[in-house]
Amino acid sequence: MALKDYRTALVTGASSGIGAATVRLLAGRGLAVHAVARRHERLIELKDAGDVTIHTLDLRDRAALYATLGEIEADILVNSAGVGSRFDPFHELDPDNIDATLETNVLGTIHAARAVSPGMVARRRGHIVNIGSIFGLHAIGSSVYGASKGAVHVLSQDLRHDLKGTGIRVTEVSPGRTATEIFATMTDDQAAQTAMAEGFEIITAEDVAEAVVWALDQPWRVNVSLIELTATEQIPGGVGIHPVT
Ligand SMILES: NC(=O)c1ccc[n+]([C@@H]2O[C@H](COP(=O)([O-])OP(=O)(O)OC[C@H]3O[C@@H](n4cnc5c(N)ncnc54)[C@H](OP(=O)(O)O)[C@@H]3O)[C@@H](O)[C@H]2O)c1
Repeated sequence: MALKDYRTALVTGASSGIGAATVRLLAGRGLAVHAVARRHERLIELKDAGDVTIHTLDLRDRAALYATLGEIEADILVNSAGVGSRFDPFHELDPDNIDATLETNVLGTIHAARAVSPGMVARRRGHIVNIGSIFGLHAIGSSVYGASKGAVHVLSQDLRHDLKGTGIRVTEVSPGRTATEIFATMTDDQAAQTAMAEGFEIITAEDVAEAVVWALDQPWRVNVSLIELTATEQIPGGVGIHPVT
């Protein structure tokens, strides 16, 4: 079962970055794509990509999540919605920001998978792709964000056990620093946001989306469990001459 055997995809975090790039690639491959995020005006821009249906939704609203996602017959779920935690030192973090990070990155991902998986099991056709992070695979130094992405890593591994025999494949794609709007969720300092994309050639949302589609496109006998991809000049955990993690 490769991409040509999938007909419908659901992408969260579709209004920008990796999610938006994934919507465009999948729609370009002829799939009907459901695009989910909060910013309606940004979702509308995806309409020119092909057969795209938009759903304006805050994934932290559990009732709305199940009511909306549970109705979509998705062969593919790409969990890309996520936020970074603030740059503040751990002991100064706003408790509300801690909750928002975990509610979006962990609970949003789990509930989206829970909402779409009954239909996938019934149809014996499904592929869940979770966007993790190198912060979930290595201790880099952003503990709340790292905890959220560590949870996504173990979730992805354990889902393979829990869904074995159902016909659902599970893939984690964990990028390093990627040029998207997520930096704005970490700091309001424009110079700091700009600096995160400078100093070396960082990867793009399209690079990550290509990895997602590559995993989806494998023959049925192949489950791509984990893809870690970073800029050539970014080595997780080992900064060398580049303070780039
Ligand atoms: N950029 C990086 O360096 C990097 C590296 C590793 C992993 N990642 C991961 O990649 C994923 C995509 O992030 P990105 O880099 O593409 O950043 P992005 O451009 O900021 O995209 C994040 C998306 O998540 C959506 N979102 C956030 N909170 C939401 C909520 N409560 N309900 C619904 N949608 C929500 C945002 O849309 P709305 O604001 O419109 O709701 C947006 O579409 C995230 O999981 C992130 O942790 C990013």
